[in-house]
Amino acid sequence: MIVTVTMNPAIDKTVEIDSLQPGGLNRIKKVEYDAGGKGINVSKTIKELGGESVAMGFLGGNAGRTIENVLKEKEIQGSFVWVQGETRTNTKVFEQNGEVTELNEPGPVIGEGKMEELKTRLLEYAKPGVLFVLSGSIPSGVERTIYRDIICLVHEKGAKALLDADGDLFKYALEAAPDIIKPNRVELEGYAGIDYRASDRELYDIAKGLMDKGIGTVAVSMGGSGAVLLLPGRSVRCPALSVKAHSTVGAGDAMVAALAYSWEMGLDSVETARLCMAASAGAVTTIGTKPPSRETVEELKKQVIMEEIGE
Ligand SMILES: Nc1ncnc2c1ncn2[C@@H]1O[C@H](COP(=O)(O)OP(=O)(O)OP(=O)(O)O)[C@@H](O)[C@H]1O
Ligand SMILES: [Mg+2]
Repeated sequence: MIVTVTMNPAIDKTVEIDSLQPGGLNRIKKVEYDAGGKGINVSKTIKELGGESVAMGFLGGNAGRTIENVLKEKEIQGSFVWVQGETRTNTKVFEQNGEVTELNEPGPVIGEGKMEELKTRLLEYAKPGVLFVLSGSIPSGVERTIYRDIICLVHEKGAKALLDADGDLFKYALEAAPDIIKPNRVELEGYAGIDYRASDRELYDIAKGLMDKGIGTVAVSMGGSGAVLLLPGRSVRCPALSVKAHSTVGAGDAMVAALAYSWEMGLDSVETARLCMAASAGAVTTIGTKPPSRETVEELKKQVIMEEIGE
């Protein structure tokens, strides 16, 4: 069973206008809404891949209810803790000339009581055979050690954890040895204190060091350059698949979904790598964070190339 945790969900609102007039009246030509936030994006992709997950986290107000409804429509099970205030609506304004302006709301502040409620809820699900996907930023009021603390709690119950987070969240969480991590290149360089573009070999060495500390799988995503994947018993470098790019936003989330789904299905390292590359490249072909279809992913799997990385 897969549980995704989204501490900071959002309605992703996309509006199209001819050209933005600051200080003037702007008429919107087209508007679209979707439920977003990293964990929720992972749940949506898992659904497309043919799997199931429970989406957990915090929701508030009308925006929260909208997210709950969107998930229901997509037949994704939700189990959210309701909080005071309004879940974020993040607006992207697309102009005809390709310019994008983003307006992000702050979202509710989470008190200690609500966090305890979420932890209790998570622990109701924590047992062997369950994977918790912890991804994305955290709302105000939440300690930066939160992912570390949750990983420790679920590990005590025999459950597993997949981490996709940045900065301090990532650094502290590593102390609890999550089972699977998916840093992108910049996140891993930041963690290692490298202020230049690291070579694939250097990224591999840093990732290998993390595996030696007890992390089972390290997937280092490198955007359009592909990925370095350290999987049980096998380390490979995969060039990115050649696709018509629409939006690279959410490509990382699709790789996280592929890692979680592969774990759930007990796929071997070769099949896991194949799915990671195909799902993430598929996400690039869709608009915004929309997940790729199963057919697209199956088709893209045929393109995947793996180069073994030696010690
Ligand atoms: N232009 C591209 N063409 C093909 N595949 C791509 C492209 N960009 C990204 N990918 C695929 O998606 C994977 C994840 O991308 P990336 O490293 O950008 O993740 P990320 O920075 O975590 O993204 P996000 O957090 O926005 O979801 C890459 O390893 C690669 O397989
Ligand atoms: Mg990412």
